[in-house]
Amino acid sequence: MTRIDEVVDGIYRISTTLDAGGPFQFNQFLIDDERPALVHTGMHQMYEAVRDAVGQVLDPGRLEYVILLHFESDECGGMNGFLGGAPDSTLACSALSDDLNLSGWDYRGRVEGHIDGDVIDLGRHKLRFLETPHVHHWDSMMLFDETTKSLFPSDLFIQAGDQPPVVTENLGAEMCGLYREVGIFAHEEPVRKVVDRVEALDPDWVHGMHGGSLTRESFPYFVRALREQPFAYEGKLLGRPVELPA
Ligand SMILES: [Fe+2]
Ligand SMILES: [Fe+2]
Repeated sequence: MTRIDEVVDGIYRISTTLDAGGPFQFNQFLIDDERPALVHTGMHQMYEAVRDAVGQVLDPGRLEYVILLHFESDECGGMNGFLGGAPDSTLACSALSDDLNLSGWDYRGRVEGHIDGDVIDLGRHKLRFLETPHVHHWDSMMLFDETTKSLFPSDLFIQAGDQPPVVTENLGAEMCGLYREVGIFAHEEPVRKVVDRVEALDPDWVHGMHGGSLTRESFPYFVRALREQPFAYEGKLLGRPVELPA
């Protein structure tokens, strides 16, 4: 159940809906440019489906960048497959993902660790790195494409369910409820600082990893919900109450 749709100007959303107690989407973004890039790979088990979707647009062997936004299996489980099949490719990630994880992993391809402000020039699209620690991992970062004014926020601005490629609804309350249920943010404060920062970028598009892409019209609903509603960890992990001894 993997589909691919062009959302805006050479940016394709590859989306697979899985059952996680209800439908839940895992997205990757293919950027078709002089130096093609794939933003997140999906889990290892999704590699062939994602590669076939990439193949509808370009030869996956031409990928020059595979980018992971934090070290987690839905971000990078397919990295060996994609990088092994693309001889000129480089894995790009945050400096922390490299130092903390990849440097001690059995990954043998080329790696670039980036800090805030670094830019990868794909040709028409230029991807700027934003370090966003603790949203939701220590090593987290986001990308901003200056050309299409597209933000790639990974797991921020999440939506559950089987969403269309572009979401126009206000699902802000559902987003905050899902975050409380799964417990991915330790605290609201570092997240709200990043919300302020990405809002100031004035994005036209927000391409999240789970759900549909947001537009200028729908993005403010999600920003407002994160400012006004609680969403940090409150004792549940993936819906399971964690009861620790006193
Ligand atoms: Fe994540
Ligand atoms: Fe994710």
